[in-house]
Amino acid sequence: MNKTVTVIPGDGIGPEVTGAVLRVLDAVGARLEYDHQVAGTSAVPSHGSVLPQETVDSINAHRVALKGPLTTPSGSGFRSVNVAIRKEFALYANVRPVRTILPGGRYEDIDLVLIRENTEGLYVGVEHFIGMENDPKAAAESVMITTRYGSERIVRFAFDYAAANGREKVTLAHKANILKHTQGLFLDVGRRIAEGYADRVGFEDRIIDATAMYLVLDPYRFDVLVMENMFGDILSDLMAGLVGGLGFAPAANIGEDHAVFEAVHGSAPDIAGQGVANPTGLLLSACLLLEHVGQPEEAARVRSALYSVIRDGVSRTRDMGGSAGTAEFTDAVIGALA
Ligand code: NAI
Ligand code: MG
Repeated sequence: MNKTVTVIPGDGIGPEVTGAVLRVLDAVGARLEYDHQVAGTSAVPSHGSVLPQETVDSINAHRVALKGPLTTPSGSGFRSVNVAIRKEFALYANVRPVRTILPGGRYEDIDLVLIRENTEGLYVGVEHFIGMENDPKAAAESVMITTRYGSERIVRFAFDYAAANGREKVTLAHKANILKHTQGLFLDVGRRIAEGYADRVGFEDRIIDATAMYLVLDPYRFDVLVMENMFGDILSDLMAGLVGGLGFAPAANIGEDHAVFEAVHGSAPDIAGQGVANPTGLLLSACLLLEHVGQPEEAARVRSALYSVIRDGVSRTRDMGGSAGTAEFTDAVIGALA
């Protein structure tokens, strides 16, 4: 039976990469139906909202979504719709695998997974300005929230993921030396949960800044990494950089009952509408979706076609140093499907 999935093309390059991914999913014979919905700035003209109720209802009904990037204004304006979606469906685990596909980069054979806490930390957005004398914005204050419940479930998720995927070690990256309460709680909880997995999965904790340095210097010393929300946001882009950039990085936002699959990259306004975006990030996210809905063979066939096209080098997109557009690259992937 086909599984129905909510599809949100999103903003900027979103519709281009989403269109490419749906073509590959059709070609591989994925047993999926699509409920097409909108969100982001592109939803405003038709629906008057960046997150229409129909879209929320659709994700609620189908519990699985494939989502393109959504533009969020910096500094002022509406709050992130991505963050709103993660909150709405309690998508507490953001799973970001980082793997070398394009050979000849900075490193070969990178195979890391970052598990980012997705609902707490500074991204709860409890912040305000403090006025002094004539300056209404003399200072600004932001609250970092860490709960025992939230820390336990994300660290447990990381260990369960490591155990289920034959991974050897979980590194908990933190700043408990400075943020003794928020990050101290996260570290405490992590150490305690690690004990329960000691027979199956190794554990280490490392301060976040040193983790960033070691990731660049010697990424092979890591395996699965778990950290709070903002650290995970920043380090997942850094890790994407280890394997050739944001174009290659997929993500799964996982909750108890719902899952939203998206690329790590944003709406890339600098290249939107030019037909040159690399759809690999969203295509790999769609592979995670296929695995999530019990279609791992289709996922494996897509990955293998994708890897062979990228390695082969004839139809690489611009960010890979090639000259193929999104459509030509996608045609090549479809042509390489076994
Ligand atoms: P970005 O990820 O959109 O772009 C950064 C750089 O990477 C740009 O030079 C872009 O051209 C390039 N790039 C990104 N994806 C690519 C792809 N698939 N193929 C080839 N090149 C690619 O980050 P930026 O510019 O900081 O953010 C743009 C907008 O996206 C912002 O409004 C931001 O809030 C939003 N955003 C949304 C995300 C989401 O929906 N999950 C995640 C990150 C950012
Ligand atoms: Mg990010």
